[in-house]
Amino acid sequence: MKGRPGPLLVRGTLVDAPHDPFTTGAPLRVEDDGGLLVVDGRIADRGAIADVRRRARDAGTAATELDLRGGLVVPGFVDTHVHLPQVRVIGGLGLSLLDWLTDWALPEEARLAEPSYAAGVATDFVHGLVEAGTTTALVFGSHFAPAVDLLLQEAERVGLRTTAGLVVADRVLRPELLTTPERAHAESVDLSSRWHDRGLARYAVTPRFSLSSSPELLDACADVLRDVPGTLMTSHVNENPREIEQVAAAFPQARDYVDTYDRAGLLGPGTVLAHDVHPTDAGLAAMAAAGSAVAHCPTSNAALGSGLFPLRPHVEHGVRVALGSDVGGGTGFSLLKEALQAQFTQSLLGPDGLPLEPAHLLWLATRAGALALGLGDETGDLSVGRSFDAVHLRPRAGTTTATVVEHAPDAVAAWRALVALGTTSDVAGVWVRGRRLDGDDDVRHDHLGDDSGQDDEARRARRPVG
Ligand code: GUN
Ligand code: ZN
Repeated sequence: MKGRPGPLLVRGTLVDAPHDPFTTGAPLRVEDDGGLLVVDGRIADRGAIADVRRRARDAGTAATELDLRGGLVVPGFVDTHVHLPQVRVIGGLGLSLLDWLTDWALPEEARLAEPSYAAGVATDFVHGLVEAGTTTALVFGSHFAPAVDLLLQEAERVGLRTTAGLVVADRVLRPELLTTPERAHAESVDLSSRWHDRGLARYAVTPRFSLSSSPELLDACADVLRDVPGTLMTSHVNENPREIEQVAAAFPQARDYVDTYDRAGLLGPGTVLAHDVHPTDAGLAAMAAAGSAVAHCPTSNAALGSGLFPLRPHVEHGVRVALGSDVGGGTGFSLLKEALQAQFTQSLLGPDGLPLEPAHLLWLATRAGALALGLGDETGDLSVGRSFDAVHLRPRAGTTTATVVEHAPDAVAAWRALVALGTTSDVAGVWVRGRRLDGDDDVRHDHLGDDSGQDDEARRARRPVG
């Protein structure tokens, strides 16, 4: 890791969603020619650029100006569900969940037994997240402990905020992916004792899904959750009708799929369950009561034919929802694409859908994820006190996206356009804790107190999108 940069004065069009639009109706927060003073990686002041610059100067803070005008500065994206071992097999279209797992995903996951292969996958994976503007991720690790170590080492090297865990299963899957409750407990405690709360890393207890778990394995997971305070728990739930039927047969005492986790003591405020495309009312009520969250993975739900996510009952029950890419079940790392597909999904549900406005889409891709992961004090919006975890979205000049963004009447319309048209190519810069992850800072070296307006024209000429 490179050293911590000195104070930064970030200038740009700031757009974030600090308040839940589902419960408050709050619109996006926009600062058109905005400024953020970033000290020790944290936002120390925000407002109109002229005001922030003046206050910094009055306080004697010498800050380097980072000019991000052109496009939008938004909070870094938070991916609440993404699988490390599947990065190289994205795109297995046309299969439903259980066939896709058997024929497509799991053979690749078995290859991570070999640490040199796993190291390459970890590099590809972390690079893919950063390239997409994801600054925080809850990662489904690997069935092999050394591969989880390699992931967390790579994330630490790059500076990605990562929560991850050893994926555990003791039935149904191919034999080389299986463990025992005892080994699962020992390896999970070992990994979590070395990684949980170390820098930007945290640990998540990760039973793959109830279908591949004995009750004893779920109990062992609950023991880890208790033994290592602050760890999260993540798994899958109610994704596919065949899967749900088989879970019901394997857990005859359970009320429903959610209850298979609940009765093991795995449902709590640090629990994130992916999919929930086919919920029960009782399951929703249990998740709401526990403060658990759902990772909504809309491109995966479409690609695997899992169904149209019923967002409305989640919101009505008070279940927290955020976005996940579910790579490789999904179609790539971009949370812009997930936001778009989330919007499509609600449209396709007709009167049962919950229409998603620009504020909902940014909320789902940023702040909702930060809160679901218990990182609300750290990240998810551009408020004073948060880490400067941010993405500069600036389409390349000459692209249709640039044309639409340039002609957008305001920043909200520009964000809407970026959701509709944006790709990872529109991610022009990515920062976590004030440190750039995706290349060198293109900073101005004049300091506050200089006449910072004097070369605006020259800089504007270089900017692809005004
Ligand atoms: N359920 C259990 N494992 C997986 C997985 O890898 N992807 C998805 N989408 N669902 C799962
Ligand atoms: Zn998944």
